[in-house]
Amino acid sequence: MAKRILVTSALPYANGSIHLGHLVEYIQTDIWVRAQKMLGHEVHYVCADDTHGTPVMLKAEQENLSPEQLIERVHKEHSQDFYDFGIQFDNYYSTNSPENRQLCEEIFNSLSDAGLIDEKEVEQFYDPLKQMFLPDRYVKGTCPKCKTPDQYGDSCEACGATYCPTDLIEPYSTVSGAKPDRKTSTHLFFKLSDARCEHFLREFTQNTDRLQPEAANKMKEWLGEAGEAKLSDWDISRDAPYFGFPIPGTSETKFFYVWLDAPVGYFGSFLNYLANHESLKTATLTQDFLRPGGNTELIHFIGKDILYFHALFWPAMLEFSKFRTPTKIFAHGFLTVDGQKMSKSRGTFITARSYLESGLEPESLRYYYAAKLNDSMEDIDLNLSDFMARVNSDLVGKYINIASRSANFLAKKFDGKLSDISVTNNEVVCYFFECSENIADAFEARQYSKGIREIMALADRANTYIDTQKPWELAKSESDLNLKKLHEVCSVAINLFKILTVYLKPVLPTLAADVEQFLAIDALQWSDSKRCLPTKHVINSYQHLMGRIDPKLIDKLITLNNQKPIKSKTQSNRPKPKKMATEKTIAENTTDITIDAFNKIDLRIGKIIEAENVEGADKLVRLKIDLGGEQRQVFAGIKSAYNPEDLKEKLVVVVANLKARKMRFGESQGMVLAASGEESGIFLISPESGAAPGMQVK
Ligand code: 2FM
Ligand code: ZN
Repeated sequence: MAKRILVTSALPYANGSIHLGHLVEYIQTDIWVRAQKMLGHEVHYVCADDTHGTPVMLKAEQENLSPEQLIERVHKEHSQDFYDFGIQFDNYYSTNSPENRQLCEEIFNSLSDAGLIDEKEVEQFYDPLKQMFLPDRYVKGTCPKCKTPDQYGDSCEACGATYCPTDLIEPYSTVSGAKPDRKTSTHLFFKLSDARCEHFLREFTQNTDRLQPEAANKMKEWLGEAGEAKLSDWDISRDAPYFGFPIPGTSETKFFYVWLDAPVGYFGSFLNYLANHESLKTATLTQDFLRPGGNTELIHFIGKDILYFHALFWPAMLEFSKFRTPTKIFAHGFLTVDGQKMSKSRGTFITARSYLESGLEPESLRYYYAAKLNDSMEDIDLNLSDFMARVNSDLVGKYINIASRSANFLAKKFDGKLSDISVTNNEVVCYFFECSENIADAFEARQYSKGIREIMALADRANTYIDTQKPWELAKSESDLNLKKLHEVCSVAINLFKILTVYLKPVLPTLAADVEQFLAIDALQWSDSKRCLPTKHVINSYQHLMGRIDPKLIDKLITLNNQKPIKSKTQSNRPKPKKMATEKTIAENTTDITIDAFNKIDLRIGKIIEAENVEGADKLVRLKIDLGGEQRQVFAGIKSAYNPEDLKEKLVVVVANLKARKMRFGESQGMVLAASGEESGIFLISPESGAAPGMQVK
């Protein structure tokens, strides 16, 4: 039976460009949606720009634009990027919309009526010059311990010390440069700690297939044991000035926090989509899709970093404001490029636009991501040489090859007409039909890599069929029998090519459209994978469908991204650089040391065997490291860049003879080496494979 599904991808922030990391999710969702549509389900795929919050407000100001002007420009850029990569939203909207505002107000009022909104006093940094409250990331100062300048308010990235924001020496607002005050204000909270919410969320997240197993486990951790009261209330308001929706009843002094109105934007976009489609206006889609009991599905594709918002806050908000709750939440991992976290300074922070400018085909990336993606939250790696090899060998060498090998004979010898004898009973054709369900299931289950493996095994089989039948030999002979055989072999091959095109169509929609044109057929549906082209059907002459990736294009991509001027976010927001500190740093960096001095540092390879976030420290991760025979506990200020789960088994470089240091949370017995610079981000130093714990680094 046809399903009715509303699908979303996370809304990208309106203060930045779409990059290849974002595209993992949009491509993953788009493939899923296209496959479900081909299978005959009713699917509506909506998204929007996530427009509200302090960063958009400040960026607009820097560019001398109103926030509305900035988000309008970004909306155009994002829409074009998505279009160019074949991401086919049914609606791409904005969270700054009347529909969204109305929905937010309704949800807030319902939660308020249900007794789930509270007021609490919150103390925050306040910029007296700019007259605004500052999110913590906009306050920096000098570390009280090691005196490194430009550290955030909770811990020092240079020495790992943790402290209170008020301990910072010379704190300054990165917005105006002014010394910030601490100021109290009343905030509104969604009472997630209420027993009703806890009860609902326990039901919602456990013993269902709503979440992936690893996500359900994470939820267990966040919810704790029954009665443990682990959930904190959620601060949903921000004080003016703020770019967002005013909260009803606060005289425009308080605004909904961006994370409240962002997921509501999914519904706002859906309402806007219905309003713009005459045929949908009269249907009961609002009721069916947005209210409980509609016998429809709501599926969110998200990154693993925003699971908390989507599996806790969002369903609880919906449940207690009489909206429907999500059917499934599909979380994916992050993208690494050549094994590294994406980084501007390394040239691996690749925007969607620069990929297109390099001349690479969007569908090559779609194919590569599909070949790597599965239903887990594991990270995926874009290895540029593997990318090129894979696209060239699979798509061009195997798949396209089938068409080019058979179409020319059909054109030359038979005027493009397929055999008048049906090939439906051909053994290979039958096998291709039989694989239809398995491949559809792989798409449905987001096991794309498995699906692609099966499709490529079929392509191999088609090529083996051609190799065995040797049409080039048959074509040399003028005998009727051989000509007939040639006609049959080419007709089989073209049918195999057509079925493969059905299977690849969710991944390669543009290429599939070109194939449809070449084969002179209507848009392929999944059911076409179980039927042959009609006998005597006439196809068009073969045109070039896809070429190999030229290595020069990869070089161009790297060059384009390396040449981008590196502009630090914090720097551009900051007041004049602190000259003294900068000069001192340069002087220190250029002071030579002897080899003996360097040899005094005992650098060892360590293997992380345990990693956990340190409660009460915003930046620290507690690591247990195997140094080959001995174990050390090290507190590292890397929380902003790494998930503890991802650190296990990782090899790192440890300063093994650093004097142990007592910290609030325990003793730190060494230091792990990591790179960081003006750009945001921290990058652990890891050895090449083969290095073992305890080895000396010289
Ligand atoms: O993390 C992000 O990029 C957010 N802009 C995602 C929002 S998704 C949804 F909640 F709107
Ligand atoms: Zn320090």
